[in-house]
Amino acid sequence: MTLLFVAPTMAAADWVAALAQELPEMPVRVWPDLGDPGDIRYALAWAPPHGLIASLPHLKAVLSLGAGVDSLLSDPTLPATVPVVRLVDPALTDGMTEYVVWQVLAWHRDATAYRAHQRDRQWRKMPERMAGDRTVGIMGLGELGLAAARALTALGFPVTGWSRSPRSIDGIGCYAGADGMDAFLASAQCLVCLLPLTGETEGILNAGLFVRLPDGAHLINAGRGRHLVDQDLLHALSTGHLSGAALDVFETEPLPPDHPFWAHPQITVTPHVAAVTHARSASVSIAAAIRELEQGRRPRQTVDRGRGY
Ligand code: NAP
Ligand code: GLV
Repeated sequence: MTLLFVAPTMAAADWVAALAQELPEMPVRVWPDLGDPGDIRYALAWAPPHGLIASLPHLKAVLSLGAGVDSLLSDPTLPATVPVVRLVDPALTDGMTEYVVWQVLAWHRDATAYRAHQRDRQWRKMPERMAGDRTVGIMGLGELGLAAARALTALGFPVTGWSRSPRSIDGIGCYAGADGMDAFLASAQCLVCLLPLTGETEGILNAGLFVRLPDGAHLINAGRGRHLVDQDLLHALSTGHLSGAALDVFETEPLPPDHPFWAHPQITVTPHVAAVTHARSASVSIAAAIRELEQGRRPRQTVDRGRGY
């Protein structure tokens, strides 16, 4: 019973050490060293080459090294019968909460303006607003969206959330589906996208959505780059309908050097670091999921292939 680690962009040595701690009984191979593919029961993967998973004849499950599984599900050869388990890990959730709180506070406290004033040696005060007067709307009330919503509520922001199925959460104004979208967007002075990338959510951050936000709204996208229509954001910023954006994810990563987002004065770019997977912490959740699978159970974080997340 062997585990294959396949994540071309991650430090394999850290993972091998962390997995040896949590799953001492399980030999680990690091792609591209497959050995006999018939030995491999579990694949721990981030953006594996298409076709690799299908080439493992005795695979019991694929475990994602990230919360998002779009790069796994986009492989047309991925066998329909192999369960895909996404990552739910407290360190990942904490990282995203920090990122969202950081970017919401940067918006709320005019960080971009003060940085520019400092550069120009200007002692100039911006109007102070109270958190209680500024609504943050979070698209996606899952593991990450809900934790961020709670942290922002604790800071005094009115928080609303939008999900696919109706939710009822104390202290958070909940909206769901197409029917709830207009009311959700109408109050979101700061809109945070923490949706998974699926057929339904691709391109959702577009001109048609932006016009339904209040004038001067701010956008934070930490979901996936393909949620956003880049040109529509640039247009909404140029008309002033949106006042700024913080973007962590991009259609092409790394963001190409000539992309207009890099130099845009109202856009903050971070290099897909909102929530990073830490081997030591994540290997605990991964080991727990593998133990459940070994006992014939279905981990809670198993992806619903029909929904795409
Ligand atoms: P999750 O627990 O699966 O939650 C997804 C949320 O999105 C759920 O509330 C779900 O609604 C909602 N949703 C899905 N499709 C929808 C639709 N068509 N309309 C409305 N709501 C919809 O996922 P998570 O763990 O919070 O992760 C969310 C995403 O964050 C990941 O998929 C990934 O893309 C991104 N991410 C980014 C980074 C980064 O570093 N930038 C790091 C980690 C994750 P229901 O509640 O009704 O199911
Ligand atoms: C990172 O983007 C993740 O999905 O965990």
